[in-house]
Formats: sequence, structure tokens, C-alpha cells
Amino acid sequence: MSLPNSVLNMSDLDLSGKRVLMRLDLNVPMKDGVVSDSTRIDASLPAVREAIGKGAKVILMSHLGRPHEGCYDLEYSLAPVAKKLTERLGSEVPLVTNWLNNGNQHPKEPVVLYENVRFNRGEKTNDKQLAQKMAELCDVFVMNAFGAAHRAHASTHGVAQYAPIACAGPLLRSEIEVLSKAVQNPKRPVVAIIGGAKVFTKLQVLRQLSAKVDTLIVGGGIANTFLAATRHPVGDSLFEEKLMDDAIRIDQMIYDRGGELPLPTDVVVSEELGAVANAQEKAVSDVGNNDRILDIGSITAAHYMDHIHRAGTVIWSGPVGVFEYDQFGTGTKALANAIAESKAFSLAGGGDTIAAINKYGVADRISYISTGGGAFLEFVEGKSLPGVSILEHRTKQSQLMH
Ligand code: 3PG
Repeated sequence: MSLPNSVLNMSDLDLSGKRVLMRLDLNVPMKDGVVSDSTRIDASLPAVREAIGKGAKVILMSHLGRPHEGCYDLEYSLAPVAKKLTERLGSEVPLVTNWLNNGNQHPKEPVVLYENVRFNRGEKTNDKQLAQKMAELCDVFVMNAFGAAHRAHASTHGVAQYAPIACAGPLLRSEIEVLSKAVQNPKRPVVAIIGGAKVFTKLQVLRQLSAKVDTLIVGGGIANTFLAATRHPVGDSLFEEKLMDDAIRIDQMIYDRGGELPLPTDVVVSEELGAVANAQEKAVSDVGNNDRILDIGSITAAHYMDHIHRAGTVIWSGPVGVFEYDQFGTGTKALANAIAESKAFSLAGGGDTIAAINKYGVADRISYISTGGGAFLEFVEGKSLPGVSILEHRTKQSQLMH
């Protein structure tokens, strides 16, 4: 998938005096009510600065977390994001609540941020009336939220259908351009590292990747299901019994194509999880009934690093251990450093992955860090993203009318 040149590009439009409604993905991690990682905010800013520079009145909207739809919840307020935007732009970015009924009003400030779109009932079901109300708020809708482009929601899809003009922002364009090049014609061998807690959430991507990549490294809780499926003891570790057959099929599929799905031969275990938990390295065959597998062991890490060193392309989504605690972060750190040192074109995406990249200080040595988590994976899988398809659809419609 790539964005056809015909999809309207924000940079080509005259925005002077226009109300520009921009959908961003400002779903950023918070700690104690403060933004703890501003990667997504910073990546969104060039579009905002460009629109201000062109004389637009800029209205920003985003989701944050997964609040219960239809009610306000302080925990999911974008207030800390408004503060960060104010800092970055050097002028006040007010947070506007109850913005849906603003109709034709022009905001006074050059940039305003509308409160969490997911507080509106009908956002996730892409409610037509809600989308139309959003569309009434602008002259031009800019889709710049690559990280939310896999969602067919009112603020990512419906609004683009009804806005007078709908176009792609620079972040959306550059994400799709870079990822398309890497995914459509990757330099081989391709190594994908897919970590995370559950196979369930990544089953589809694991299936798709097993048909495309040369080496599929699974990490975190996902690896436990693969270990259990191949009759290794996993003790008290989380694993999904119901998905063991799927794991076997994925394993078989990649081997049938001549690829590999290497599993850990040694692991780091503990009977508890926490900052003071005692970590112990063991062969997989020695995992005891009360052990929880929380990281890969050093022999496994060396084996995976070898795959990474020989790779032409590395796709990385998800840590291989509970790296938030240092004693369970050795495996993820080793892989992060191997990716940084490798000559392969490396692509990484997802909140946890970005946190690991920042923790181990390798960001400047990863070829491309996507702002997408789920969207990054769906793109890599080859799925079309609704937030992008609707822009293509609008373009086709307008071509037919002229
Ligand atoms: C993400 O963090 O991947 C995006 O912001 C999408 O969030 P969602 O999975 O809650 O839709």
C-alpha cells in the first residue's frame, strides 16, 4: 500500500484563513499526570507549524487511552498534552471541552486542542451524525494520525467522508512512504521480532509474517505459548492454552517456507514480579512449576543477535522480556543493541518498543521508528488502513465529479 499522488496533500493546499481540523495521534504515555514520552507529540508538530505558518486556524483532535465512551474521565483528559504542546509551540494551546457544538465558530487562538475524541458517544462506532458534526467544525480536515489510521472511527474515518476537503498530513505521508518501501521490497533475510503479552492480540500478524519473513522471533508472553505448544515446561508463566494449535500451525508454516521460528533454549525466571524480584537464568527444560518466565536467557539472546547481525531488514514490535525491571531487561537490551549495530534496515513501532529504544539509548541508530503501534503492525501485515482508504475514496469521488 502506498499513498497515490492523487490523494490531496496538506502541503499543496492554500490554508490561509481556513479552519483546519487536524486528527493527530497524541495517545502518549503519562506518569503522575505528566507526559512521560513525547515522541508522538514531537512527530506531529511539523504539520501543526506548517498549518500555522500558512495562516490557518488550527484545531487539533486526538484520542487518549480507552475511556468509557460517552462520559468525561479526568484520567483520560488531554490536559497534560495541551501543556506539552504549549511548551513546544511557545504559545498557549487551550484545551477545549464540549467542543462538539462549536459549529461555525472560529477559534480565537491560532491553535486549540479539543478534548479526547473518545469521550463522545459514537466515536468508536463511526457514528454518522457524530462524524458530520465534526466535519462542520472545519473547512479542511487533515488526517495526520498514522497511529490511529487502522481505526475506522468517527474522528479518523467518518469525518474525512463529510468534511468539505479531506487531505493527508505530512506525518501520515512519510510513514506510509517509508514503510511501503521497506515492506514491499525488503532486503533479505527479513527478521521480525514480535513481543508482547498475548498471542491472541497478535495472532493475525504472526500468521501473516510467517508467510513473509525469513526468521520470526517471538518474545514475551507470546513465546510462552509457543514453548508450551512444543511441550516445554512453562511453570506459572502466562500462556494461552487455546492458541497452542495456532502456534504449531504458524511454526509449521514458516518452516515449510524454509524460514525459522527459533524458540528460547534458556530463560530468566522468577517466582514473583517487581523491582526486587529475584531473577534466575535456567535452561528451558529446568523451568519449575512455580517459575514465571520473564526474559530470554543469555544463550538465546546470543542466538537471536546472530540472526539480527545477518539480517537485511529487521522489523521490531514488542520487547522480549519485562524490561521495565532491569533484572528482566537483559534480553531486550541485547536485541536493541544488536539492531542498533546491525547494517540491516531496521523498522520499529509500538509504545513498549519505543520505551525500550529510549531506555537503551539506541533511537538514533534505528533506521525508522514508526509512531504507530497497532497501525504499524497492520500495515506490515499488508492490511489497508481505513483512515487512509477514506482519503483515497474522497479523491476518486472528486475525480469522477470533474
Ligand atoms: C496506539 O497506541 O497504538 C494508537 O494510539 C491506537 O490506540 P488504540 O489501540 O487504543 O486504538
